[in-house]
Amino acid sequence: MSKFRKIGILTSGGDAPGMNACLRAVARKALNEGVETIGIKEGYNGLINNDLITLSSDNVRGLMHESGTRLYSSRCLEFKTEEGMKKALDTCEKNHIDAIIAIGGDGTFRGALDLTAHGIPSVGLPGTIDNDITASDYTIGFDTAMNTTISAIDELRVTCESHKRCNVIEVMGRGCGQIALQTGLASGAVAVAVPEIPFDADKALERMRKLRAAGKRSMLVVISEGCITEDGKPYSEVFYNRMKNETEIETKFYRAAHTVRGGVPSLRDRVTASAMGVVAVEELLNEKSDEVICEIDGRIVPVDIRWALAADRMYKNKLKPGELDMFSAAQVEEMKQLCAKRKAYVERLYYYIDVTADRV
Ligand code: F6P
Repeated sequence: MSKFRKIGILTSGGDAPGMNACLRAVARKALNEGVETIGIKEGYNGLINNDLITLSSDNVRGLMHESGTRLYSSRCLEFKTEEGMKKALDTCEKNHIDAIIAIGGDGTFRGALDLTAHGIPSVGLPGTIDNDITASDYTIGFDTAMNTTISAIDELRVTCESHKRCNVIEVMGRGCGQIALQTGLASGAVAVAVPEIPFDADKALERMRKLRAAGKRSMLVVISEGCITEDGKPYSEVFYNRMKNETEIETKFYRAAHTVRGGVPSLRDRVTASAMGVVAVEELLNEKSDEVICEIDGRIVPVDIRWALAADRMYKNKLKPGELDMFSAAQVEEMKQLCAKRKAYVERLYYYIDVTADRV
């Protein structure tokens, strides 16, 4: 029999297709173990405001196929304050919530870490369309978001071909080019810009001029939302203006933004979300906490949350002085290897784009 009476679950940050499948998996697995699941509404806000709902076997029925998050989501600043944490702990105590599963991104995981430090064992699950959690090869929602994005790009390609146009397409991904890399490759874009790799705009413009001169009708340029100019402007808009001002190619602009968060969860997202949800419950019931449930080389495995957060900041060049002091040399080395692996993967994808792009 578990020592837990109830597990709380919340979704925080940007919603991602598959979050609901995860709620369903957690509730059903916990019930199998004789533990109740309490849904916390609007992320950490629900903990502060005591806004909760019991997730019974009945009310998670049908959730597998639903996009969005039944629990709603928010980014909660009050939770970062002492007062906010106090209210959250009161809610846990009053409602006999003994552990928390938090689905979201790095901000969500920091909240989970704080909760454990205050005596509520917590586990994080990577849920974001951006696939930007360095410790995990995959985040819930990524596949669906890419499929929704590629459908839109395919449709744009058709009309570009008819009208002999170019379309500059900005795709989602805060600080991260994963969606752009995959959809850029899969759409046969003539140029792709991501924040991880320097982009030679002059070369891209020159290539497009030559392609048009050689008769190419439709041209697609995919640019990640994460590409920002030094003065904070979306690079997609800058490149679009260059197309208009420096080429004869008729060019349109399209932003594949929040619609890609609302797609029906793909099989990949349903399966991964279900597996991660089950493993999160198993870990908590095995008295583990401070973990993020990751996908690594095809396996669903727990990773220490502090290590995962530090590795993430290492990859994003955001480490603060002394931040690695708490880790052993071997752990730091593992982080470096992980960052190198991720970087190599990004470079490889970029290489595939480059060598298969149309050129004359
Ligand atoms: O984290 C996912 C994401 O969709 C990013 O790609 C985007 O930058 C951000 O969320 C937008 O979030 P919102 O507009 O909901 O704050």
